[in-house]
This record gives sequence, C-alpha cells and structure tokens, in this order.
Amino acid sequence: MGDAAVYDFRRDLTTDFLVDVERAEKLKEISLKLPDIILNDRQLCDLELIANGAFFPLTGFMVQSDYESVLDRMRLQDETLWPLPVCLDISETRARTMEAGQSVAIRDPEGFLLAIMHLGDIWPVDREKEALKVYGTLDRSHPGVKYIYDGTGDYYIGGNLEVLSLPLHYDFKSLRMPPEELKAMYKKLGWKRIAGFITRNPIHRAQFEMTIKAMRIAKANLLLLPVAGMTKSDDFDHYTRIRCYNKVLCHYPPDSHALNLLPHALRMAGPKEALMHAIIAKNYGCSHFIVGHDHGSPVPDNNGTVFYDGDAARKMVEIYSSEIGLEIISFEEMVYLPFEDEFRCADQVPEGMQTISLSGSDIRERFRNGRRIPQWATFPEVTAELQKAHPPLLKQGLTIFLTGLSGSGKSTIAKILYSRFLEIGERPVSLLDGDIVRRNLSSELSFSKEHRDINVKRIGFVANEITKNRGIAICAPIAPYAVTRGEIRANIESHGGFIEVHVATPIEVCEKRDRKGMYAKARAGLIKGFTGVDDPYEIPQSPEVNIDTTDLTPDEAAQEILLYLGEKGYI
Ligand code: PPS
Repeated sequence: MGDAAVYDFRRDLTTDFLVDVERAEKLKEISLKLPDIILNDRQLCDLELIANGAFFPLTGFMVQSDYESVLDRMRLQDETLWPLPVCLDISETRARTMEAGQSVAIRDPEGFLLAIMHLGDIWPVDREKEALKVYGTLDRSHPGVKYIYDGTGDYYIGGNLEVLSLPLHYDFKSLRMPPEELKAMYKKLGWKRIAGFITRNPIHRAQFEMTIKAMRIAKANLLLLPVAGMTKSDDFDHYTRIRCYNKVLCHYPPDSHALNLLPHALRMAGPKEALMHAIIAKNYGCSHFIVGHDHGSPVPDNNGTVFYDGDAARKMVEIYSSEIGLEIISFEEMVYLPFEDEFRCADQVPEGMQTISLSGSDIRERFRNGRRIPQWATFPEVTAELQKAHPPLLKQGLTIFLTGLSGSGKSTIAKILYSRFLEIGERPVSLLDGDIVRRNLSSELSFSKEHRDINVKRIGFVANEITKNRGIAICAPIAPYAVTRGEIRANIESHGGFIEVHVATPIEVCEKRDRKGMYAKARAGLIKGFTGVDDPYEIPQSPEVNIDTTDLTPDEAAQEILLYLGEKGYI
C-alpha cells in the first residue's frame, strides 16, 4: 500500500490515552465488581507502550481479527502496518470464566489498578502457527519461540483499554518520558530532525561511531532509547546499562542528544522487530531511525543457529520507511581498522585491509568469562561500570546446592563447607540446611509433593537473594524433584554461580546409617511418603559435582567440592 499519508494522518487523532479524573473515579468503583487480571512483566511493558502512545495506533490488546491479520500480512485489519502481535494471554482456567463483551480490571502484581479492559474476543493460542508466522521457526532456542511455548497462557483476550495509570516505576523516573513529553521537549529545544536509536546493549565504540555517523548524515539530534523492559535474560541489566550510557553521553557534543528509557518487551523477531522499533521511534517523534547489522535478532545459539540474515532488518525497514514516515539510516557491521585506529562500515573497507570486530554479544561474553576488553572496543568508563556489575568469579555470589537422600551426608558436608568459607572470610556465607529451613521457614509444611516444592523453592528464593548480594549460600535439602531444582538453577545462574552437588550415597548405605531412625520408621509404615522408600527421588542428570560418601569421610567429601570451586575460579 505504501501510503505514508494514512499512517501520519492517524497520528493526529488522539494522543492522550489516560482517562480523565472523573472517569477514573467511576472506573475504580466499577473495578471492585470486575474479575482481576494481574499482568506479568511482559504484559506490563505492552500495556505501558499502548498507554503512553508508543504503540500508536493500538488502543488496547489486539482482538482476534487484528491478530490474524498481523500474522498473515503484517497489517491490522484496517491496513495499518503492524509487524508483531500485541496480545494479552491468560490461562485456560481464567479463560473459561470469561466471555466477550464483559470488562476486566487490569492490575499490576501488587494489585494496583492500571486499566479496565473491555473484552472484544477470547481465543485459544495456536502456538505453532504463531511461532512460524512471527519468527519463521519452531526452534525453541529462539527466545521468542520459547516464550510462546513456555511463557504464554493458553488463551488470548483482546479489547480496548481505558487506562487509569501507567505502570509504576521507581527507578530513573526522569528518564521515562512518554512520547508526548519528549516531543514537547524537542519543540522547546528547537530540535527538528531526530535520529532514534533503540538498543539493548551498552554503547560500545562501534555503536558510538555508528550513532555519530548517523547524526552527521541526517544532520540530526540523537534520541537514545535503550530497552528497559524485558530483554534477553543474559543481557546486562538496565541499571548497569544506564550507568554506562550516562558515562558515554559526555563523548557526544553537548545538547546534541537525549536519553530516554523504552519499557519494551523485546520479541527478538529480527526484521519484524526492527520494523516494530521503527514504528516506536516514529511515535517518539523521530524523523530518522538507525538500523545496524542484525538489529533485533537473537545471537546464534550454542549450535550456531542464525535465525535471520544480517541484512534482513535493514531491508525490511527500508521497504516500509516511507509508509511509516521515517528516513532509515542503516549500517553494515562496524569494524575496527587497527592500523588506521578508526571504525568503518564493513562494506567501506578496501579489500585486503585488516579489520577486527567485537559485537555487543562478544563483549558480553568476554565479561562473563572474566576476559579483558580491548580499549578500541569499548570506553574505559564503560568497562569499569560493567566490571563493577560483573566482578570476576572470585568476587561473585554463589549457591552450593547439595541434594540427595536423607542420611546421604548433605548436612555434615554443608556444615564443613560453611566453616571453611568462614575461615576463608572473603564473602558472607549462609547455611540453609533442610532441617534448619523446615524449622525456621517452612514449619507449617508437610512432605507432600506440593509442600516439598514450596519448601525447596523458598530455599531457592533465599539462596538467590544471597547470591545476588555476592554472598555464598550453602543449601542442603533433599530437593527430590528435577524440575524444581532446574527452576532454582535458572534463577540463580543469572546472578552468580550455581553448583549442584549430588550427594549420591546409595539408599542401602543411608538406611544402614539411619542416624535419625527415620528409615526404620518408614519401613515400619510409621512415616508415609519417605523419600527413597515410598516417595521418589529424581537423580540429577548433570550435577557439577557427584559424591558418594560410602567410602569417604565428610572432610574428604567437602574437599572434593572445594577443589572443584578452586578449579573453576570461585575460590
Ligand atoms: S524436601 O523434600 O527437600 O522438602 O525435604 P527436606 O526439607 O530436606 O527434609 C528434611 C528432613 O526431613 C526428614 N523427613 C523426611 N524426609 C523425607 N521424606 C519424608 N517423608 C520425611 N519426613 C521427615 C528427613 O530426615 C530429612 O532429613 P535430612 O537427613 O536432613 O535430609
């Protein structure tokens, strides 16, 4: 269709998405009688961008006909260009209690009322269809596909929103301007041409050179819109990134740029993601949009799967740029020329000239592995900030998670480790032994599957907090279920080390020891559902350390763990 007028014309219809005070009071009253929907992090991001106008012209979560139309042809029913679905997913149990035509109260996880949604449609999620149409793959190593399968409820609900409040934020408040406020600021500052740059990475030298070049080409000011919603789980958190941006900003000419956070939940849909970003940039009042190599694509997974061609994002936004009403400034991969000591686009390097490059992901990897970052790749101030956030393993927090049958030796090994770490005295250390936790945190719980899961998750939660704060958590529950252990690992690994130790002493040995007389009671039927007797223990498939204490003293067993930690660089 390529009709720029359609897109721009609609922009003037309305920009104020919040209801007025009187209506807000009325809605608050009505909400008391409505079913609640509590939004998760991703849904909160989507709501915020709908409500603040960054997802204009969406005025609610998509109804089914818009959703289907977006999947099939990247357009809403009314022909407006729109590359990605923005839907509200709920569980099947919730869906069964709802019907089109009713209203629901949309709340944040604390129960704060954000909006009233008038349901237009409820429909089941077709995961395979959505994954293929949106991401072009069913490969679950793609984070977007994984989210459809593992993170999305079974049903979508769509409909218009009456928004009372944007989601609440307590961090970087002055950097969270909605589009209209930014546009008013451009006006005040006399900015006419604005180049938008949306990124989930810190600004390294390559990105810096790219934005400077873009500002020159477009004769524009720069709007830096770092994604501060849901990025990829292994990205640097937004607190770290914002500290880095603040350091880099002084390298731009004064008054040439603005920094504003974008509460966006990335889908990592490659070219379609880039197109979404271009629309968002337009809504933030940009006249130009900067697209780099591989914009919006997931990094190749461990098997090296590349989901989108490096050039695909640029090509996609260029096709639609006039319809969106933006000029695109696109860049090939930026490479460093060591002899010239400068960055250039890869396509502008004469043949045979030596180049080197490190992508944002390469740099992230280097930090995670404690490797040095060369000065040509990133500013020393940025390196310092990133190092503060990601200290070497020796200074990071870690959880040592001992799992095994009752009587396997977990508690004794845990106590020895606890003493050793106190002797070393480098990091604070906490012991979360099964019995101690049962007494202090979980005294109301039984040994049913459900209660064991609650108990073990509580331990995981506390261990995660300790690890986040760079301490050592030593946990020693039975933790019989693999899925629960896996969840705990996934949470903790994003903040520090997680060392699973399977104390694999066979049941015959545990039973022979029977220090607490529990096995005897279990065999006599006096205790029901005893792990290893008449309740399952799922053996860890790939623990970091495996110890059978049959022929080992507790000290020897603890030493095996300490040797492993030393070899890996944790102590
Ligand atoms: S779990 O499954 O992780 O919640 O168990 P946990 O909290 O680690 O269990 C701690 C101790 O409880 C005693 N106990 C039982 N264990 C297994 N099954 C049943 N039904 C049971 N009832 C009580 C058991 O002695 C555990 O001790 P240790 O030796 O510390 O593992």
